[in-house]
Amino acid sequence: MSLLSQHVDGDRQVRWVRYFGSIFLANKDNFAYCYSQAHAGYGAMFDLENVSKRYDHVQALRSLNLSIPAGKTTVLIGPSGCGKSTLLRLMAGLIPNDEGLVTFKGAPLTKKNIKVLRRKMGFVVQEGGLFPHMSAENNICLMARQTGWEEGRIQRRIKQLLQYTRFPQDALNRYPAQLSSGQRQRVSLMRALMLDPDVLLLDEPLGALDPLIRFELQTDLKSIFDALRKTVVLVTHDIGEAGYFGDLIVLMQDGGIVQQGNLADLVTRPASRFVENFVNAQRTLLAL
Ligand SMILES: Nc1ncnc2c1ncn2[C@@H]1O[C@H](COP(=O)(O)OP(=O)(O)OP(=O)(O)O)[C@@H](O)[C@H]1O
Ligand SMILES: [Mg+2]
Repeated sequence: MSLLSQHVDGDRQVRWVRYFGSIFLANKDNFAYCYSQAHAGYGAMFDLENVSKRYDHVQALRSLNLSIPAGKTTVLIGPSGCGKSTLLRLMAGLIPNDEGLVTFKGAPLTKKNIKVLRRKMGFVVQEGGLFPHMSAENNICLMARQTGWEEGRIQRRIKQLLQYTRFPQDALNRYPAQLSSGQRQRVSLMRALMLDPDVLLLDEPLGALDPLIRFELQTDLKSIFDALRKTVVLVTHDIGEAGYFGDLIVLMQDGGIVQQGNLADLVTRPASRFVENFVNAQRTLLAL
């Protein structure tokens, strides 16, 4: 039996263990229930239970619970500093949570399994995160080459990705600094899609683009999501964009979730004055 993760819930010590290939929630005396059975057919790609994260003096996430539905687009939205990027990085296993449990396809993320599980996740970091000293093509192929894909398979995949993202083939050998910001975002997206991941985690993929390019990329992203039917978690500041992409919109404030639902829920049934103000602030701008 191996210990996968543990945390304290009130006065209870909660331990997740692997026993003969299955995952169990264990307490002091017996196994409470079989994790995989409890979650069979649940339809969640990620499950976060009472997840907290602190950086030095900042409590970035506070005992947060969230289920990310498989095959749908979930949008994380909220004011700057509310914890959106932290939440996305936790799901990608790039940073550890202090408390609580993060599971991906029913398996708790652990130091041991994260390297393998990360190959099933495509991640676009805020600002794109391309390596400046590598060409667009090398940025896109890096993981596939490290994973041992043969060159023919890599080239076939690139061809597909160029079509999805409408990126010009002759720009593949350029460095990120020699591309427009919209093209850089397309390269980041191709890199995230290269290994055909189960889930795409996109941190403000449309931030800092001029309005026309943004509109073009919004439309392309939407058709990629619809065509590939992947699970997508996307961060944005823009409520209109959240409504355009999101099957589920998760509005955050100060490290917690204040409301989740679709755009109509947020507009017509705001859970608090904060939700009303957040939605109305952007609607007022639109009405000008
Ligand atoms: N590496 C870090 N070290 C210390 N504090 C951090 C670190 N990363 C984030 N924070 C803090 O944690 C809080 C949440 O940050 P996070 O980046 O998750 O916010 P965000 O919602 O993505 O904001 P934005 O919309 O501006 O990107 C902020 O107060 C931020 O200053
Ligand atoms: Mg952020």
